[in-house]
Parts: sequence; structure tokens; C-alpha cells
Amino acid sequence: MSSRIAVVPGSFDPPTLGHLDVIRRAARLYEQLHVLVVHNPDKEAMLPIAQRLALLEESIAEAGIEGDVVIGSWSVGLLVDYAQEVGAGVLVKGIRSQADVTYETPMAVVNNHLADVETVFLLADPANSVVSSSLVRQVAGLGGDVSPYVPGPVARYLSRATSSEF
Ligand code: PNS
Repeated sequence: MSSRIAVVPGSFDPPTLGHLDVIRRAARLYEQLHVLVVHNPDKEAMLPIAQRLALLEESIAEAGIEGDVVIGSWSVGLLVDYAQEVGAGVLVKGIRSQADVTYETPMAVVNNHLADVETVFLLADPANSVVSSSLVRQVAGLGGDVSPYVPGPVARYLSRATSSEF
């Protein structure tokens, strides 16, 4: 397990500007970064995993994020199993608010008990403090403009899709 290899896990349903900011900053901190689309059974998904992967890939490329960034998905087993498989010793999470700390803390503690993995919290840019995938899903589903909150490829994809698709 290397402290130079990190995983940024999330539902990314869809990827937002907040996600992209965390990915860009984490890519500068670690030698290799795995951006991992994780199936979250607690949330009803808007986009299939393959679509989230494609949008992440396009968004990361269009934003010119540099470094060794690997995009993948994980739907069976623990997140730390993936981390161990790729030798990552770090999980990176973006924190927008105290509510995020409350949500993330038990997962960070349990992941550290399960495996030799540390969780690093990056404080979100205040510009992204209200941006969430759930808000984007709601606005897009009702036909609103989400372009201020999501990368270009996601905005273009969502504006092409009709609200009835979601
Ligand atoms: O973007 P999200 O939905 O807030 O991401 C949450 C996610 C996918 C990172 C979280 O649900 C997760 O870590 N799932 C992996 C399942 C797991 O390993 N659970 C046990 C330890 S917490």
C-alpha cells in the first residue's frame, strides 16, 4: 500500500465541478490517482455507471487535468478491496460542510479498521459549497439549467437528454 497512490471514490451521478476540483487538486498531490465510480446501493441512480465513466473521462480531459489519472468502477465488495488491489494507501474525499464531516467520519474510521488505508479530506472551494450531484439531478430532472454546477461535457449531455429520461 503506497501513500503515493490515492483513490477518489464517489457515485459521480453526475460528476460536478466540485468533484472535478477535488480530482484536479488530488492529482497534484499523488503520483497516481484512481477516480472510482462506486455503486452506492443507498441512492437511486440517474445515470448508468458506463455513462458516468464516459462523462468523467471527457470532463477530466477537457479540464486539462494532468498527472497519472486512472478512471474505473467498482460494484462488488469493499472500497478498500479496490484500494488494496491497486496498492493505494489513501482515499481522498471532498468536504463542503460539517454535514460532510459527519457523513464521512464513520466511513473513514471503518475503512482504516478494515485495511491499512488513510482518508484525506480536501476542503472544497467555497465556490462549490452548495454543489451536489443530488441537487444537479433534481434541477436537471425538472428541466433546469445545471451548467453552472457541472463540467461542460456533463452540461451538454444533460441538456441533450430530455427530462423524461430521468
Ligand atoms: O458520492 P457518494 O455517494 O457520497 O460516495 C459514497 C461512497 C461510494 C464513496 C461510499 O458509499 C463508499 O465508500 N462505498 C463503498 C462501500 C464500502 O466499502 N463500505 C464499507 C466501508 S464505509
